[in-house]
Amino acid sequence: MPRLKKNGRGLAVGVVGASGMVGRELLSVLEKSRFPVGELKVFSSGRGAKSVLFRSRRLPLSAPSLAALRGCRLAFFVSSDAVSRRWAPALAASGVWVIDDSSAFRLDANVPLVIPEINASVLRRDRRLVAGPNCTMSGLGLAAAALDRAAGLKDVRAASYQAVSGAGLSALREFLLQARTVTGRLRAERADLFAPALRSLRPAVLPRAIAFNAVPQVGDFAADGYSREEIKVAAELRKVLRSPRLPVSVTAVRVPTLRGHALAAWLRLKRPLSLARARAVLKKAAGVVMMAAPDYPTPAGCAGRTEAFVGRLRRGASPNEIALWVVSDNLLKGAASNSLQIAQELLRRGWL
Ligand SMILES: NC(=O)c1ccc[n+]([C@@H]2O[C@H](COP(=O)([O-])OP(=O)(O)OC[C@H]3O[C@@H](n4cnc5c(N)ncnc54)[C@H](OP(=O)(O)O)[C@@H]3O)[C@@H](O)[C@H]2O)c1
Repeated sequence: MPRLKKNGRGLAVGVVGASGMVGRELLSVLEKSRFPVGELKVFSSGRGAKSVLFRSRRLPLSAPSLAALRGCRLAFFVSSDAVSRRWAPALAASGVWVIDDSSAFRLDANVPLVIPEINASVLRRDRRLVAGPNCTMSGLGLAAAALDRAAGLKDVRAASYQAVSGAGLSALREFLLQARTVTGRLRAERADLFAPALRSLRPAVLPRAIAFNAVPQVGDFAADGYSREEIKVAAELRKVLRSPRLPVSVTAVRVPTLRGHALAAWLRLKRPLSLARARAVLKKAAGVVMMAAPDYPTPAGCAGRTEAFVGRLRRGASPNEIALWVVSDNLLKGAASNSLQIAQELLRRGWL
């Protein structure tokens, strides 16, 4: 069984997908934290970048192998559903703690889906495969959990404004290329040129051109018309809130922001809750920053932060309904920093 590396300096940690959007953030948060990384093993497809920097050292990337991963005490999977499915269960069964940011196991009844501020209590010593949440759900989840504890959630409606980095490095490269292509051809006074310039873009990674656009499709559509992202947000919210029948309806939209997912959300509550009380509840909630009106959060303003920021709190149209705007950094609270928090919790419990 893999155990603490005998170098006395810390744990052997693996990162599968270290060259990706989330992987690079994970290396950065690990480096800035006091998490006791002894040896760091970094893995990628073996096709893209050849190395990554960690603590000023250049580490060579290689394709994963079970032998190399088994030498780790903890492995972060920040790659893809397929890669996680291939390696994570076998690795966890062999005794390695696995924190998986893909969506492969989030809804598996035997896999804890963890946002530590909400449900660290679902972690179990004998369940070594732990899932992190969908990056669109995490910010909404923190706000919803606080209001649920205060007055019971009856239902949730939300529309998202999701950054391009949520779709990975290749989508972000496509966006930046499109933006450069178009900006060179546009002038504010020539609105007649906008449509031909935008129509000339040929998307390859995202379903439509994303530069100067808003695309109401994140993932494939199911037969009922909901996208895969919308279905994930709803199902994962129900799981972390332990409300399997909670009605949730989401419209997920990709917008041309770089990092930070925003949502406009309407939460109907079972019991009355004044706006002042809702504000106080959100202000006290762990992991939430409640902004004082007339200030409000934006994706650019929240980039690089690990909390969920809430603003625009007001009454909704229905009785006991609260409308709000929530923003969190998809690469951090939606992935890397949430995963680090899970690892820190395992360490705190003496399980690592
Ligand atoms: N982006 C977000 O905001 C976000 C938030 C929450 C969760 N997630 C999840 O986190 C994971 C990573 O997302 P991302 O946005 O970072 O994607 P990304 O930028 O496309 O990075 C993917 C990473 O996986 C590696 N990879 C590809 N094929 C592999 C293989 N066969 N074996 C090992 N590694 C392989 C890539 O290596 P190469 O460099 O060699 O291609 C790269 O390091 C996904 O499961 C995603 O759903 C993402």
